[in-house]
Amino acid sequence: MKPVLIVYYSRSGVTAKVAAALAHACGADLERIQDERPRTGVVGYLRSAWQALRHQPADIPAPVHRPADYAFVILGTPVWAGRMSSPMRSYILQQREHFRRIGLFCTMGGSGGPDVLSAMAELCNKLPFASMSLRQRDVLNDAHVPALAAFADELAVVRDSEAAAKA
Ligand SMILES: Cc1cc2nc3c(=O)[nH]c(=O)nc-3n(C[C@H](O)[C@H](O)[C@H](O)COP(=O)(O)O)c2cc1C
Repeated sequence: MKPVLIVYYSRSGVTAKVAAALAHACGADLERIQDERPRTGVVGYLRSAWQALRHQPADIPAPVHRPADYAFVILGTPVWAGRMSSPMRSYILQQREHFRRIGLFCTMGGSGGPDVLSAMAELCNKLPFASMSLRQRDVLNDAHVPALAAFADELAVVRDSEAAAKA
């Protein structure tokens, strides 16, 4: 069993930055959810908001990593119209039966993060070992580093206690 997989979707790089830093901090494998349709420009933005609002899944290709191979899967998404992104919704719907322990994070302009984290946990039908919502400007200024370190610490504590329970 491999330890940690971080799976994220990112349209404009903010969630990707958090995912990469978290993977570095936790020694995790990284899976970026690809998107079959372009989401650039005003049309892409509006279509993304509309899909998210209506809870519509997106077409995504098969993942590279198998979540069933991992003890922990950490899921990261941007907030879209107060919802999780549609590619992340698709990934959870397709893979959730393979998740063991989950952690959650999201990035946002300024609002909707806690609701998105709750909705992700509900869709996974699991309580996360940790979750965090981060503002885009904090991620871009590196003001999110303490929250990210705390998240990585929580993962380390859970992993240590599970290892101790097995010993
Ligand atoms: C279609 C769309 C809808 C968005 N809706 C919200 C929102 O409801 N609340 C919010 O705080 N930010 C919202 N944002 C901003 C993103 O959540 C924020 O910029 C995020 O950090 C982008 O992550 P990414 O670069 O990984 O795609 C929205 C962005 C897009 C593209």
